[in-house]
Amino acid sequence: MVGKGSFICVEGLDGCGKTTQAKVLAERLGHQYKTVYTAEPSQGEIGTFIREYCLKNENRLSSIVEALLFAADRFEHVKNEVIPAVFEGTLVISDRYLHSSLAYQGAAGVSLEWIQKINQNAINPDLVIFIDVEPKVAINRLKREKSVMENVATLKKVREIYMKFVQKGDLVRVEGNRPPEEVGKDILFLVRRFLKNRC
Ligand code: TYD
Repeated sequence: MVGKGSFICVEGLDGCGKTTQAKVLAERLGHQYKTVYTAEPSQGEIGTFIREYCLKNENRLSSIVEALLFAADRFEHVKNEVIPAVFEGTLVISDRYLHSSLAYQGAAGVSLEWIQKINQNAINPDLVIFIDVEPKVAINRLKREKSVMENVATLKKVREIYMKFVQKGDLVRVEGNRPPEEVGKDILFLVRRFLKNRC
């Protein structure tokens, strides 16, 4: 926890439903707490560049450069949006954060230690929820290829890395192969329990 507020992240494969779940969570908690929904890549200049250039371009940049761009976007996102909000007591819910870089750029072969290092200014989240779906299910759920990161082989590696962090206790896994209402109920329960127990 940084200030009076809290910083909660929702992670998962593309197609796991995390954007819907993060938004619903923010809306539900918004009745009780001052809450804000945010996402990475961010709405800032670097995030916009990433979305428009890196995720759609056929000529991929190297994974190292992508990791650097996501880290740069994160630095701005944290400095301009997350920290000010948390310090004024807001509950910040981020759709993707540091573990997306570890899982996606890590799956592309970039060293996890190095990714941690270039993200050393990224504050630690208070709680990270991982919505777990099978890579095949995730791909099938996507109606179109949303980004260059999406194919079953890549998503399998991405999931493996996420699961390592679940086993370490850094992420809390929620079973995602269920109707969205059930997944949402579990996420709300976990977050409410965290908020109740925080000092
Ligand atoms: P996504 O959450 O799918 O954004 P949107 O809903 O706007 O399409 O994220 C876009 C892609 O960016 C996704 O395939 C994962 C990738 N990504 C990384 O590879 N590394 C990162 O650090 C982040 C934040 C995202």
